[in-house]
This record gives sequence, structure tokens and C-alpha cells, in this order.
Amino acid sequence: MPHQVSQIFLKACSRVLSLTAMVSPTLPSSYDSIEDYTAHLCHFLDTPLVRQITGGIHVNDALLRNGWQALPQEWTDWWSSWPRHRLAQQDLIDGIDEGLDPASCRFSKQAQPAESRPASLTDWLARLKSLALPRSRRPGPTLALPEALTAHMKPKKVSEVSAAAAYIHNVCQRRGITRIVDMGSGQGYLSISLAYLFPYLRCLAMDGSETQVAASRSAAAALGIPETRLKQVVHWVDGSRDLAFLVEDWAEGERCMLVGLHACGSLSEHMARYFATVSCIDALAVVGCCYNHIVPRSPASPAGFPISSALRERNVSLSATALMTACQAPNNWTRPSPECVAAGDSMFSKRRLYRSILEKLLHDKGIKVNNVGDEKRPRWGIRKQDMATFIKYARRSMDCTDVAHETITDAELMAYEERYSDCEGQIAILWTLGVLCSKVVESLIAMDRYCYLQEQGAEGVDVVPIFDFKVSPRNLMVVAEKAQAAGCNH
Ligand SMILES: C[S@@+](CC[C@H](N)C(=O)[O-])C[C@H]1O[C@@H](n2cnc3c(N)ncnc32)[C@H](O)[C@@H]1O
Repeated sequence: MPHQVSQIFLKACSRVLSLTAMVSPTLPSSYDSIEDYTAHLCHFLDTPLVRQITGGIHVNDALLRNGWQALPQEWTDWWSSWPRHRLAQQDLIDGIDEGLDPASCRFSKQAQPAESRPASLTDWLARLKSLALPRSRRPGPTLALPEALTAHMKPKKVSEVSAAAAYIHNVCQRRGITRIVDMGSGQGYLSISLAYLFPYLRCLAMDGSETQVAASRSAAAALGIPETRLKQVVHWVDGSRDLAFLVEDWAEGERCMLVGLHACGSLSEHMARYFATVSCIDALAVVGCCYNHIVPRSPASPAGFPISSALRERNVSLSATALMTACQAPNNWTRPSPECVAAGDSMFSKRRLYRSILEKLLHDKGIKVNNVGDEKRPRWGIRKQDMATFIKYARRSMDCTDVAHETITDAELMAYEERYSDCEGQIAILWTLGVLCSKVVESLIAMDRYCYLQEQGAEGVDVVPIFDFKVSPRNLMVVAEKAQAAGCNH
């Protein structure tokens, strides 16, 4: 195994363009200062319109809180003139696409020339686009993984591990690092690949899920990787000192690189703190995801988001809805085919419409299943068959929320459906507007981590778009290295 590995790696590295030579994030083209960029990002996310569409008026409350009417009227007039709202949605999504081939938008342009779009909307879309960190994959090394490793991986995971493992190996070689700590290791794709490919490395993989670690252990055993090279533990990462001691004991005084591939929510933030505070951790490479699991800062959670002083001083906060939108990638949604558009509106937008109508009806009748404006909504457990009619949908939702059927008659349900059935496009566009903010919200989260690491005196702090965005939309890897003078036991 090992001798094949070095050949694979040498082949892969023949097209290496050193990532480490680039030490700051690639900012959007109109910025050359981190401070200006971060300030503009914070300001934009705090504008009334963005606040509204990222949770100020939850899309489920759109009918009862007049979400559509709260938007600029020239925008809503223009969207109302589209023959199909799905086309208007696509026009918005195309408006923020980083590298869209104009030919691919032909269909929507035919339906409603984008030139007739209100200038204020075009400006807003341009602003949104100009504030997002660039996502085009930065050139860098990738590994050609052997089939023994890829056999159980999906193509997306293969491309992620190929790029991440090459990056990590590069840093380890350059800095003399011999230990890897993989937090949120899941099924172990990354740590198993590192242990298998690079015998000089010792890896510690940890995950809070017993099932994930069990799967990872059996995959490592099948590949014949001994525990001396890969230790796998069930451990929830919560920022505690105990875990810092565990890592220090395991490291036995050697330098470690802390890595995480799609480290959910606050896990990435805990990792940034461990990097900053645990002396044997010499380098960090973490790709975030599932931003809805980020814990916001509060008196009960003083370590919550944001973690940097730079953003804390600005009193930055992101609503639960904003965090949820950051998990979306509208530019990767399937473009509507002419047939699909002609056939009518999607099940997806119908479901949003039904929810908004029922929320309105429940509210009008004084039936409380959640507080208006609440961002944590009860799940309504809707199945495909419940979408056949609004009455079916409503009855199922009432069952899931313990609302007695007698409190609302079929006649009332039908009357509300009829009154609001024209609003499907409005709700769909409101939803799309929120989701359009995904890249800027994610940029703010990445910049918070970047600023925190800078504030801790780290070197080479960067936000690297390491994966192909079209394959892996969560492609921003936050990286840092300890300043050379930092005291490490080696
Ligand atoms: C999105 S998966 C990624 C798994 C793996 N790194 C990969 O790329 O295939 C996130 C993993 O992190 C684990 N996880 C999330 N938060 C965690 C925490 N605070 N402590 C430990 N594990 C956590 C989950 O159990 C899950 O296996």
C-alpha cells in the first residue's frame, strides 16, 4: 500500500499550485480591505429589506403579516407581470450567479426580458452578488484516491476528500506535522484516507455519533488500518477543557493539525477555539456546514455566534431563518424546463402556499400552535399524499399540532384556499428572496471565523474555496497556522 501511495500523490501534485502562498481570503473584486468588506457585509445584512426576508417576516407568516406588501412596490408589480412565478424566481437566481453562461438563461429571458427589471432590483441583486465571497474553486492539489478508498464514497465525497487530504498533507509536510485530529469525522472518509495514504501520520477521529464511529471503525478494519495509525472515539465536541486535555495526551508532545470536513454548526467554532488554545495544535483546516445548528450568542450561551471581537463589537446577530438560508444553494437548483413551467407550479411552492394559508386561518381564528414571529416552528409532518388537496393538508397539519378538527370546518378551509390561491407566486418569491441571501450569510459566518483567528494571532489565516461549488456548495475551508514563535512541545 504505502509505495503506491507516494506515486499517486506525486502524480497528483504535478499540477500543484501552492495554496499556502495565498494568505488572505480572495475578497469580492470590489474590495481590497477586510475591514471595509466586513463592515459592508454587516451593514447589508442589517438593512430592513434583508432583515425582513431573512426572518423578520417569516415566509409562513407572509399572509398574516403582509410580507409581499412590505416589499418595494415596483418589484412586486414587476414580478406580478411574469406569466409564471418560477421564471421570475429563476431570473432572481441568475441575477446572483457567479459565472453563469448567458446562453443558459435564454429561456427565462425569452419569457420576460431582464432589461425591463426595475433598476432598483437590478442594483440590489448586483449588491448581493458583489458581497459574496467568491466560490470558484481555487486551484490546488488533489489526490487520485485508490479504489479501496473510493469504493464506498459518493462522487461528491471523493472530490471533497481528494482536495482536502491533498491540502492537509501539504501543510503537514511543510510544517513537520505528524498528527491529525479529525473532529466530526462521521464515517471517517477523511481520516481513513489520511491514515491509509500517509503512513507517517497518526490520526485521531472523533464524532458524537456512536453509529458513525462504528461505521468508520469497520471501514478502517476492512482496509487493515491499525489502531496505532487511526484511533476512533465517540466524543461530543463542546468546547470543553476536558477534550483539550484528551487531545494533548494523545498527541504526546507532537504537532497536530485539526481538521473537519463539513463540521456542523458550532462545531467549527469550537474547533477554531481549540486551535487557538491548545498548544500542540499547530494548524487548522475546517469546512463548515449546517449553519442552522450554530448557537447564537446570548447570556445563556456567551460563547455563541459571533465568536470574533470584530463582529461582536458591531453587535452582529443572525436570525434562525438567516442561518437556515445559509444552508441553501439556489444557484445549484435545477433550472426549470419549458415543459415543467408550462405544466404549472411546483409541489414545493404549493406546500409553502398551503402552510401560509393555514397559518393565516389559525391566526384569524385565534388558534395558537406557535407564536407569530417565532422562528422555531413545529414540524407539520406533511407527506406527499397530504398535498392532494388543501383540506387534506390542513387536516394532517391539525393532527400533527393537536388542533381538533371541529375547530375549523371544511367550508372555512375551502374559503381560505379560494381567497389566497393566487398568492402562490408571492410566497415562492418571498422564499426565494430569503434564500438568495445564502451566500452573503455564509460569507459573514466565514469572515467571523477568519477575524477570530486573526485576533488570536494566527498566521496564514485564509478562507479557501477548496471544492467545486457546483458539486459541494459548502466549499469554504477556513485555514490557519500557529505563528512560528508560538510555544509548541517539539
Ligand atoms: C456533515 S457530517 C460530516 C462527516 C464527515 N466529516 C464527512 O465529511 O463525511 C457531520 C458529522 O459531525 C458530527 N458532529 C456534529 N456536531 C458534532 C459535535 N459537536 N461533536 C462531535 N461530532 C459532531 C455528526 O455526528 C456528523 O457525523
